[in-house]
Amino acid sequence: MRVMIGAGEQCWDGWMPTQQADLDLLEPASFAAYFGDRRADAFLCEHVWEHLTVEEGERAARLVYTYLKPGGRLRVAVPDGHHPDPAYQALVAVNGPGLAHDHRVLYTLATLTPVFTQAGFDVRPLEWWDADHTFHHADWDVLDGPVYRSRHLDHRNAAFRAGVGAPGFSSLILDCHRPPATA
Ligand SMILES: C[S@@+](CC[C@H](N)C(=O)[O-])C[C@H]1O[C@@H](n2cnc3c(N)ncnc32)[C@H](O)[C@@H]1O
Repeated sequence: MRVMIGAGEQCWDGWMPTQQADLDLLEPASFAAYFGDRRADAFLCEHVWEHLTVEEGERAARLVYTYLKPGGRLRVAVPDGHHPDPAYQALVAVNGPGLAHDHRVLYTLATLTPVFTQAGFDVRPLEWWDADHTFHHADWDVLDGPVYRSRHLDHRNAAFRAGVGAPGFSSLILDCHRPPATA
């Protein structure tokens, strides 16, 4: 059972898209109604957590942890506060334009990681910029959870994939693992 949270118009093979009306990160009752006794193998959540305050995001992380099987994984992507492009920063700013009008927080790796570790997750960063404007990435498999706004998939990163420059539009992406059950 692989579930996308706040999917919007995104649709990926093997993933169940849900909307806020199905699964609301701020409404535990919506998770209880959707899952019952079931638990997810994996969650995927692209550009949603920045719509919550930090305190809401921490609560949401604990909620998602509860509905994930031990050994399961949440892949989460948000705008990257260290992306060096001023045009990118203008698009993703707190209370920014268009879809960003309700952005509540702009995370960096240092500020997003504790949102998930406090909930019990083991966190592995997949893509991020550092404060010195260097882009970092781990090897990760798109098939394990596609993130469109990533170096792998975003159309704005075609030159980077061809070996030129830096990604034009990236995300801060984490894999958050619920540790396996111990005997
Ligand atoms: C910028 S859109 C991203 C949509 C899609 N994931 C994508 O990457 O294109 C933000 C999404 O977050 C969802 N959202 C906002 N608050 C939410 C919440 N409390 N629980 C679940 N989804 C939420 C919105 O409904 C919307 O679909």
